[in-house]
Amino acid sequence: MDDAAILRTEGLTKTYGKGSGKTVALDNVNLKITRGKLLAVYGPSGSGKTTLLFLLGGLDKPTSGRIYFEGVEVSNMSERRLSKLRRNSFGFVFQNYNLVDELTVLENVMLTMIFEGKPDAERKDRAKELLRRVGITGKERRRPSQLSAGEQQRVAVARSVANRPELVFMDEPTGNLDQENSQQLMRMVADMVQGEGATCVVATHNLEVVNEAPSKVFLKSGRIVSS
Ligand SMILES: Nc1ncnc2c1ncn2[C@@H]1O[C@H](COP(=O)(O)OP(=O)(O)O)[C@@H](O)[C@H]1O
Ligand SMILES: [Mg+2]
Repeated sequence: MDDAAILRTEGLTKTYGKGSGKTVALDNVNLKITRGKLLAVYGPSGSGKTTLLFLLGGLDKPTSGRIYFEGVEVSNMSERRLSKLRRNSFGFVFQNYNLVDELTVLENVMLTMIFEGKPDAERKDRAKELLRRVGITGKERRRPSQLSAGEQQRVAVARSVANRPELVFMDEPTGNLDQENSQQLMRMVADMVQGEGATCVVATHNLEVVNEAPSKVFLKSGRIVSS
C-alpha cells in the first residue's frame, strides 16, 4: 500500500442513462491523492468534475471501478457505513453553499459536530474559533442569507472542517465569487486545510485556483488528460 495516498481510484467509471441517451461522465479514471496536499481538478463544464467529487466523497456509486480510502475499498460499502464515513472523515463545500437559512451562521458551523457527542459549549467554542479564522466575527448570529456571497462561502469552508475531516471536497467553491473574493477564499481554504491537517480536493474551472494548487489533474470528457 502507498502510505502517501489517502485516496486512490482504479478504473473509475460512471455512466448515466442507457442506450442512445447514455453519457459516460467518467471514463476509467486512475487517480492517487496525496495526503495533506491540495489537489485541483480542472476541466471545462461537463468534463466530469462534480461526478468525480460525488464518487470520491461517497455521495454516489461508480458504475465500475474501485475507490480506496486509506487502503480500504469504499466503493462497495453499505450506505450505512458510507454515511458514517462521510460524517466522521469527510467535509464538503458546494458551489451554492448549502447553508441552512433556518439556523444562524454559528449554528450552521456547529451542525456538522453534532455527532461527535461533545458538550454544546465545546462545539460552540470551536465554531466561533473557525469563524474567526475565516474572518467572520460579529456576524455569528445572522442568518446565512444576511451575508455576502463571499462571506457565505467562508462560512461553508469553516463548516466543512468543523468535524475535523481527513478529506475535504469542494465543488467550484469560487464559482459565484469575483476575483478578489476568489483569491481570498482560496487563501483561507489553504490555511484552514493546512491548519487542520486535512487533504483537500477542489473542482474548479478557475485557472488561478489551478495555478496556485500544489497538485492538479486535468479532466476532459471524463478522462484524465494530464496531471
Ligand atoms: N444525473 C445525471 N444524469 C445524466 N447525466 C448527467 C448527470 N449528472 C451529470 N451528467 C452528465 O455527465 C457529464 C459530466 O457532468 P459533471 O460531472 O456535472 O461535469 P462538470 O462538473 O465538470 O461540469 C455531463 O455530460 C453531464 O451532462
Ligand atoms: Mg460541476
